[in-house]
Order: sequence, then C-alpha cells, then structure tokens
Amino acid sequence: MTKPMDYARLPDDLMVVNTWHDRFLQWLERLYASPKLYQWSLSNPLTRWITQRRTQKIFDLMSGFVYSQVLLGCVRLDLFKMLYQKPLDLHQISLQTRVTEEALQRLLLSAVSIGLLECRSHQRFGLGALGVPLATHPGIGAMVEHNHLLYLDMQDPLAFLNNAWQGGMAAYWPYAHDAQAAERAAQEKFSRYSDLMASSQEFVVQEILNSYDFHGHDCVLDVGAGKGRFTSELALRAQQLQIQLFDLPPVLALAQANFQSKGLTHRLSLHPGNFLSDPLPHGADLITLVRVAHDHPDEVVQQLLLKIHEALPVGGAFLLAEPMALTHSHSADGPTQTDAYFHFYLLAMGAGRLRTPEELMQMMSKAGFVGIERVPNNMPIHAQILLGRKHKCLP
Ligand SMILES: C[S@@+](CC[C@H](N)C(=O)[O-])C[C@H]1O[C@@H](n2cnc3c(N)ncnc32)[C@H](O)[C@@H]1O
Repeated sequence: MTKPMDYARLPDDLMVVNTWHDRFLQWLERLYASPKLYQWSLSNPLTRWITQRRTQKIFDLMSGFVYSQVLLGCVRLDLFKMLYQKPLDLHQISLQTRVTEEALQRLLLSAVSIGLLECRSHQRFGLGALGVPLATHPGIGAMVEHNHLLYLDMQDPLAFLNNAWQGGMAAYWPYAHDAQAAERAAQEKFSRYSDLMASSQEFVVQEILNSYDFHGHDCVLDVGAGKGRFTSELALRAQQLQIQLFDLPPVLALAQANFQSKGLTHRLSLHPGNFLSDPLPHGADLITLVRVAHDHPDEVVQQLLLKIHEALPVGGAFLLAEPMALTHSHSADGPTQTDAYFHFYLLAMGAGRLRTPEELMQMMSKAGFVGIERVPNNMPIHAQILLGRKHKCLP
C-alpha cells in the first residue's frame, strides 16, 4: 500500500464486550459445523430448505466468477438485444455471433441456468427475467464491461490488497490519484469515465427524482456533475429551476454539449474548477452531491462538505446521494452483499470508501448542517439519499 487509507467506523454497540452473546454465537458455530445436525436437517422436511439454501449460497460464492463471465460473454455477443427482438434457435444465434454451435450451446444453457435467458418452444432461446433489464438499459451492459477491469485487477486477491492502486481501475480514474489530473491527463480519459457515469446514472437519477420534491427550490448546484445527466433530467421535470454545474474543466465541456442537445443552455451556468483547491460558486439554494463522496478519503469529503455548507444561503438545502454501506447500517432491510462489490471497487479506484448513512450524517453534522435526515427511496442498492440544511439563523 503506497498511501494511507481511512478505516470504516463500526457501530458503537460492536465495541462493547458482550460475553453471553459471544458465547452463544460460538455455540451456534459449533452446532452448524456438526455433521449429525447436517444429516438430521436434510432428512427433516421442515428444515431441509434451510440447509439446501445455505449450500446453494456457498456454491454461488464459489462460482460467482463463472456467472460474471457468462454475463460478460452474453453482453459481448450482444445476445440480450438480439433475443429481445425475437427468440432464436442455436443455429440462428450461431450464425449471428459466429461462435460454433457446440460451444455456444454451453454459454446459452449456462445463461439459462442463472436466469439471464430462457428456453422457449421450437428449441429457441429467449430472454430470462434477468436478461430483460440488460436488453433495455444500456448502462448495465456498460458496467458489466467496465467491471472486467476490476476483476482483472483482483485476479490475485491478496496481491491486490497489498497493491491495490497499481491496476487498470486506478488508471481509469485520473482524479482519484492525481489532484492536478485536469491539467495532466488526456481529455479522452475524462470522456471515457464521464460517458460511463452518464449511462450508469439512469437508475440513480430515477431514485432521486422520485424521492425528493425539487419544486420548492429556485437554483440547484450539482457538484461533481459529470455530463449533467441528472441535472438535465431534473431541469426538464422542474421547469422553474436554474442549474449550476461544478466539475473539472474537461468534464464540464462535455456537460455543455449535453445541455445544448436538450435545448437547456439558457437555464445553465458552468463552473469549471477543482473542489480540492477552488471555492464553490454561490447562488444556489440547493446543492447536490451525487456519487462523489465515496470516491474520496474522509479528509477531502469533510473539506468538501464545509465548502458546500459555506456556499449555501441560510436555510439552504444539501442533498447527498450515492451507494452507502448496508452491512453496518442498523436499518438495512434487504440483501447487503452489494457492500462487498463497492468495498473492492472503491479500493481499486483510489482512496475513497463506502460509508454508512450514519457516518455520512456525522460528517455532515460536523460541517455545520442541521436537520439531517434520510430521504427514503425504493432501491437503496443504486443509492441512498441524505438531506441536510444550513441553519436559518447565522451563528
Ligand atoms: C463518480 S463521478 C459521478 C458523476 C455524476 N455525479 C454521476 O453520478 O454520474 C465523480 C465526478 O466528480 C468529479 N470530480 C472528481 N474530483 C473532482 C474535483 N477535485 N473537483 C471537481 N470535480 C471532481 C469527476 O470529474 C466526476 O465527474
């Protein structure tokens, strides 16, 4: 490791020694390990499903790499779009993909087994339940292709842990390692990640727009705005809003083109800059920060939150949206495995990290925000949303 990294803060109740609870968990571990219990559980129709489910989960963990590669293979052969038009048989798919029928059949049957494709009548293949979103949302396919970089970096997980910032992912994100990236890195690098962010932002944008009412605001500043996908969709929905964008200069050049193509430039002002060294523009009564904080170490995020607080008028609002840790969050009410992906993605990228909502709320409070709350949204895998305000009375 070449640079210092931040630790995640675990919940306070994990710091307290609870001997009885620890002993109970240890007893449970021994119980789970018992071959007799395993046999008994399998022979009992009431408990069989529990043991079967645990075995399936272990199998899934072991074979996850194969599942990812099957998915990548289907994306690269453009199978989802092809079969969305109409189901095809092996011979027809082989002609279009130029993969031999025998080998292709293995891929197709594997894709069927993990729900991406389905067998249809006349020995044809159609889309499975999990294949439909891949056919209709290009951002998912773009992320599948992008993840290949991460998986190359992680081929040897232990070597990766000791040398995480030497791989393709670190090179992909110029600003994550170089404060002067905007001056030094080629424009092509900014276009590449900005295109990916714009296509993968679709779901995050929907989460935000469906969860927060922007009609009470006059002007929004989006910090780390990328190509402005979120704000251009917001501008179309809330016609009264003026939009300010802040991002590195090579990125904002792309945002300008995006707003122009939608006929929205009259409501837009661009503020190219580096939030590590430049102040943020004033004038917005709402500042948004979407998928930015997790790219950066605690110190940078704390400074940025202070700048955001300073740039707001009294009573102004701040909305932060990004994927947040579910595992250590007390309110997690769904699957939490997504944390593993983001922990490793952000490690490969640079010095940022996945934070819990509670950690981010503490940082917001330290920066001076009040009335901090979680804005409930339906799909926390894509992003969770926090809202804070600058106090109405000046200190
Ligand atoms: C992960 S992208 C997210 C973009 C967009 N908000 C989205 O959700 O798709 C992070 C953005 O922050 C910008 N950024 C990173 N470091 C920055 C800095 N020091 N100053 C200004 N912008 C920065 C990047 O250029 C990039 O557009």
